[in-house]
Amino acid sequence: MQLGKKVIERILAQGGYQLIRTKQTSLPKRPAAVSPDVQRDFVFKNFENLAAAYEYALNQIEGCELLTPNAMRPRLLTRLLGTPPSEAYYILTALGKTKWVEGDVCEFGVAQGETSALIANELASTSKHLHLFDSFEGLPAPTPQDQLKDDIFSLGSIEAYTGTMMTPMDAVLERLAAISFPATRFTIHRGFIEQTLRQSQNLPTQVACAYVDFDFYEPIKTALNFLDTVMPRGAIVIVDDYDFFSTGAKTAVDEFLAQANAVAPRYEMHVPDTRLGYFCVLTKL
Ligand SMILES: C[S@@+](CC[C@H](N)C(=O)[O-])C[C@H]1O[C@@H](n2cnc3c(N)ncnc32)[C@H](O)[C@@H]1O
Repeated sequence: MQLGKKVIERILAQGGYQLIRTKQTSLPKRPAAVSPDVQRDFVFKNFENLAAAYEYALNQIEGCELLTPNAMRPRLLTRLLGTPPSEAYYILTALGKTKWVEGDVCEFGVAQGETSALIANELASTSKHLHLFDSFEGLPAPTPQDQLKDDIFSLGSIEAYTGTMMTPMDAVLERLAAISFPATRFTIHRGFIEQTLRQSQNLPTQVACAYVDFDFYEPIKTALNFLDTVMPRGAIVIVDDYDFFSTGAKTAVDEFLAQANAVAPRYEMHVPDTRLGYFCVLTKL
């Protein structure tokens, strides 16, 4: 070591330099490990920032303030199950676009109510009523139009999905109470849609915006046929699982449109890039 030091000193001296020992300092300490809570806060802050930037960009594209900043929205977006945020933003912009269209808002296929809470939060500043339709008995038996396209739960057959996605209705009530959405502002229509639409007393008479997430052919077709009778011009309906999971969703939409647009165009359809999710957007002309 001493010999090495001497050699270095000699070399430095030849160049006119001198080796001087400074006060020994310890290496900077590594920051203490970040707690999971702090880490989660960071992740959420990053998501919140991304959501704000995305909303800003969407507003620029539309040329109007469709998405006004909303403190609760990012939290509700992170809680979604099965609805990716990219698709959720289509629901949110549809709500913004139909704010001044006469009528209420519906969700067909509610499950645990995470998307319902997201929608309800947007309705807080409006006078629109929220109608939620679900059997709370999970998926019904498939029809021949429902062929398994994507085995999302790896169950092996479409028949095996009967009864899956069952959630108690109380979970929805809890979700809406947790965001302080008043009970007077929403109606839960419990039951299989085919019966509900025949029996329910308080069905909406006008619908400005709807999210249809029943997964299977029969209930989707039933919901679309009902909506056709109550949606005014400018109303928007988003149908989830278009060309995904069961072939029934796409078949139901395609058949509905073929009939509705047979004489003159009554609906415009937009199918977003599948990187944003599998769904379609129908606007009544
Ligand atoms: C995919 S989940 C809905 C998810 C929910 N929209 C969300 O974003 O969290 C499908 C729901 O549709 C309901 N459902 C399916 N077919 C139905 C029918 N014929 N009548 C009523 N509800 C039905 C099921 O009970 C299930 O809760």
